[in-house]
Amino acid sequence: MESALNPYSPGSGRRPIELAGREPEIDTFDLLMAKIRQRRPDRGMILHGLRGVGKTVLLNEFRRQAERADYMVITLEGRDAEGGPAAVRAKLARSLLQAGRKHNNKTAGAKLKTALGSLASFSAKLGVTGIDIGVTLNHGRADSGSIEVDLEEMIEDLSGALAENRSGLVFIIDEMQDLDDGLIAALLSVQHLASQREWPFYIAGAGLPNLPGVLSESRSYAERLFTYRSIGALPANAAESALLVPAAKYGVSFKNEAKELLLDASGGYPYFIQEYGYAVWETAPEKTITIADAKIAIEIGRQQLDQGFFPSRWDKATKAEKTFLRHMAIDGEEGSSTAELAHRAGKKQSSMTMTRSTLISKGVIYAPATGWVAFTLPGMADYITRLNQD
Ligand SMILES: Nc1ncnc2c1ncn2[C@@H]1O[C@H](COP(=O)(O)OP(=O)(O)O)[C@@H](O)[C@H]1O
Ligand SMILES: [Mg+2]
Repeated sequence: MESALNPYSPGSGRRPIELAGREPEIDTFDLLMAKIRQRRPDRGMILHGLRGVGKTVLLNEFRRQAERADYMVITLEGRDAEGGPAAVRAKLARSLLQAGRKHNNKTAGAKLKTALGSLASFSAKLGVTGIDIGVTLNHGRADSGSIEVDLEEMIEDLSGALAENRSGLVFIIDEMQDLDDGLIAALLSVQHLASQREWPFYIAGAGLPNLPGVLSESRSYAERLFTYRSIGALPANAAESALLVPAAKYGVSFKNEAKELLLDASGGYPYFIQEYGYAVWETAPEKTITIADAKIAIEIGRQQLDQGFFPSRWDKATKAEKTFLRHMAIDGEEGSSTAELAHRAGKKQSSMTMTRSTLISKGVIYAPATGWVAFTLPGMADYITRLNQD
């Protein structure tokens, strides 16, 4: 089939042509947006799950929904490749300034202008200037230097002003588990305050399966602040739509066995469906995809994953960490007991805590329960096993 028309979209955060099986999340977010408009308080939303299940894509969808409804939307990612916490906070400031500038239009009233002044003070305190949003700094407001106090004041002013236009403020935060502890605590306490005082401020966050735990550890009331959604592999009918619908748009169909084989190989994981779909499109000579096409595509698709999805994490591990991961791979997808891993390595458990925690901070593994670790990427155990065979 013609490569230029390939309708599949393997890659982090890439919007699929067919966003399958996520209607419940999209509807829940829609309802939240509607409730803001009616000034009926609701909860923010947290998506948690493994890599490649479609969390970023969903957050992007939420962002579009919120922007369409004319809310002020701030996007943030928990991690900055180089800069650490200060860089993430600077990004928050820039994102705020940008959104602030956009909202400082002809319809902006006096209250919003003052609030934008607080936003500017907040950003200046974080060291970000140079983006002129057309208001004067609101000195003495949101510029104490305490992130918790400043975030609260800024959000109070901003959401209060937006509320007058039946609008609100939405923070969209990806890889939220990677935010520094101080910023997480500040965000949670402002969200808490907002829900008590009915300020229209909501966080929609996404992250790894340990994100709910990270939030609860930061603030015990985090559990009650959000609607939590576990995002995972797609159920069978949605996985089928994710594979078939993009091709069908171009009059391409699958023989039943070809479809079954591809879906089986993908395990229903959105990333894998896109990768295999992409490969089969590149492989098939006719508009009906056969089992022979599917077999070759699975081979090629897996090679693609082995050169992209998996090494994106594997290559970040040190030699000692790789040994740890190899020991984990023996247990497969279900996760490993750290006691058993220590036993396997012939080491004391305490001597492995460093390796364990650096692997967690690198986002390769997470702790599903005390004394357990598991991979954050579906299929990682098999990948490591394949590596060992080379
Ligand atoms: N609901 C879905 N249906 C089909 N494909 C999807 C869906 N959600 C995500 N994808 C695809 O899966 C891949 C991973 O999505 P992404 O949002 O980056 O996952 P995550 O953020 O969970 O790691 C992308 O290639 C994307 O196009
Ligand atoms: Mg993501």
